[in-house]
Amino acid sequence: RLIILDFGSQYTQLIARRIRELHVFCEIHPYTHAPNLVLSDDIRGVILSGSPCSVREEGAPNPDLSHLLGHVPVLGVCYGAQLLAQQGGGEVLPATIREYGRARLTSLDGGSALLTDMHTDSQVWMSHGDTIKVLPAGYDIIASTPEVDVAAFKIEGQETYGIQFHPEVTHSTEGKVLLHNFVVNICQCAQSWTPDHFVDSAVEALQHTIGPDDQVILGLSGGVDSSVAALLLHRAIGPRLHGIFVDNGLLRQDEFATVLKAYEGLGLNVTGVNAAPEFYAALAGISDPEGKRKAIGRTFIEVFDREAQKVQGARWLAQGTIYPDVIESVSVKGPAVTIKSHHNVGGLPEKMNLKIVEPLRMLFKDEVREVGAALELPAEILNRHPFPGPGLGIRILGDITPEKVDLLQRADGVFINLLKQHGLYEHVWQAGAMLLPVQSVGVMGDERTYERVVALRAVTSVDGMTADWAHLPYDFLAEVSNKIINQVRGINRVVYDISSKPPATIEWE
Ligand code: XMP
Repeated sequence: RLIILDFGSQYTQLIARRIRELHVFCEIHPYTHAPNLVLSDDIRGVILSGSPCSVREEGAPNPDLSHLLGHVPVLGVCYGAQLLAQQGGGEVLPATIREYGRARLTSLDGGSALLTDMHTDSQVWMSHGDTIKVLPAGYDIIASTPEVDVAAFKIEGQETYGIQFHPEVTHSTEGKVLLHNFVVNICQCAQSWTPDHFVDSAVEALQHTIGPDDQVILGLSGGVDSSVAALLLHRAIGPRLHGIFVDNGLLRQDEFATVLKAYEGLGLNVTGVNAAPEFYAALAGISDPEGKRKAIGRTFIEVFDREAQKVQGARWLAQGTIYPDVIESVSVKGPAVTIKSHHNVGGLPEKMNLKIVEPLRMLFKDEVREVGAALELPAEILNRHPFPGPGLGIRILGDITPEKVDLLQRADGVFINLLKQHGLYEHVWQAGAMLLPVQSVGVMGDERTYERVVALRAVTSVDGMTADWAHLPYDFLAEVSNKIINQVRGINRVVYDISSKPPATIEWE
């Protein structure tokens, strides 16, 4: 495996994803782990990430790397390269102009193993405020750009390299070639990290960890992560996995029945719990979004706990936690190293004395999907849009009643089904309808109506952090609007949300 030491760059996760795309396993560790990194046969190389800091700043990350250099291949990227240069006695200074954007590698040592198969004039992505002015003795320049003399260097007699540009960003058009050169040719990492390989090793590990009589509980939501976790556990321990799928009355139209049937078709041992009345009772009269979220969360724990108590011999609570949730995020600008913790099903593990098992904790989202495909998860679950835990509860603005849920389920159902029929579902990241707390005037035949408004929302995004409104065709929007107004009595007006995130959010509450 390969270790990435994170100095706080926004691109660190991207480096990891690019390396995983080469089918090589890598892990991200905070730079503070560097001194404790004990080299074993199993660690084939180390990458030092970029950072928002400057090596010239007082208190900037400056871990001792001497036990690594010369003993294992090392690649410093941006800050990582500057750190190598500075620690070796070179000079790093503020760049005269901040170098940001595309650049061309005009001179390049084709004989260097790091740059094999890369072309002169190769486009690279620069993003740095400092630049390496003087390299220490024994450091050789292996690539330059018109603005940056030291675009890449190598330490003589070692497999230690530094690069000023970012190979992980797609604007570095041959970045993948460089990463392949480092990871596969120089570090000699095996390209064995494939979905099938992951499934085999994860199943084996689960069988080893979970005792032969232990029962495992898992909350299923119909989403990709929990479904893939269920299939892996099912393969490892069969019916000793007890899935619990709660209908909170805030799911999409027909979702509960369809998904439950899909789970049963996969041979999973799943209990469907119809708890809609309990959720509606807990939500009655609450209009504040956070109040609704709390009521939904609390009720979920009560229902889940009650069901989980029925499982004799339960020892484990499985969760669909994925890698971005567990990476220790370094805060290089502040003193603390914080660890993000995934939300547990509050209090249940302690109360029932359950241990936690998280079979997907080393996977990125796209890898979860690949593993799901390898496990033959049906496409309808595999390609599903993200859906918030509180469901339609935060898409009905104001208080929630079963009548409003029914109205929104039908309008949302029309929208989603038409997206699928027109082949647009895969092109948007998330879509849904919001029921607004206003009524407006309309005419139907000779009569005036005074009915509700539905807002349609569809966005394109990569990770939900930022999003653009989806530019759906007018004809399509017209068809959705007509169908909702004709078929869903109680709605006489449909609007389309054309705001992006930021400053708007994806959900309306
Ligand atoms: P926003 O509205 O913040 O949403 O742009 C970003 C993503 O998060 C989802 N979301 C939630 N998911 N519980 C969840 O499990 C919540 O309370 C919640 N609020 C928003 C939203 O659907 C989108 O994918």
